[in-house]
Amino acid sequence: MQEAGKLIKELQEMRDDGHLSDRLMRHAVRTIESSDDRYDWVGIYLLNEDDQELWLHNYVGEPTEHAKIPVGTGVCGRAVAEKTNQNVPDVSQEENYLACSPHVQSELVVLIRAGDDIFGQIDIDSEEEAAFAEEDEIGLQGIADKLAEQIMAERR
Ligand code: SME
Repeated sequence: MQEAGKLIKELQEMRDDGHLSDRLMRHAVRTIESSDDRYDWVGIYLLNEDDQELWLHNYVGEPTEHAKIPVGTGVCGRAVAEKTNQNVPDVSQEENYLACSPHVQSELVVLIRAGDDIFGQIDIDSEEEAAFAEEDEIGLQGIADKLAEQIMAERR
């Protein structure tokens, strides 16, 4: 993602102005989606620890039936179970995959976390094969870390 630094700055300014994570996450999803033509579906899932499920917070793109995803299921659930980001260059090769749209070819999941404490994730689908490079992941991790700061502040 090209404009990650600018978005991180905006998110911090929103925090300074007193906005809560709900507002920050909506702004982040919209800004990420419009930042790059390869990003066809962008959403944030939040982890519900009691139910061990990811719940869809907000998204831009085609409607999805995957509003709730059990931990361990699909690329999204696996990211939480394994506590690692997922960069899947060709989703058709994945056995543990939940299809949102038949057009999607690659997917990137970046965790919103504080160390081992996982709050959720930014999930991006692309209709291009192998759309995501390491620099996408690095920029998105910076954004996810800023969201995590605010989520943590609200849980104290
Ligand atoms: N593909 C994801 C499901 C979420 S949708 O892409 C919106 C997965 O395999 O977990």
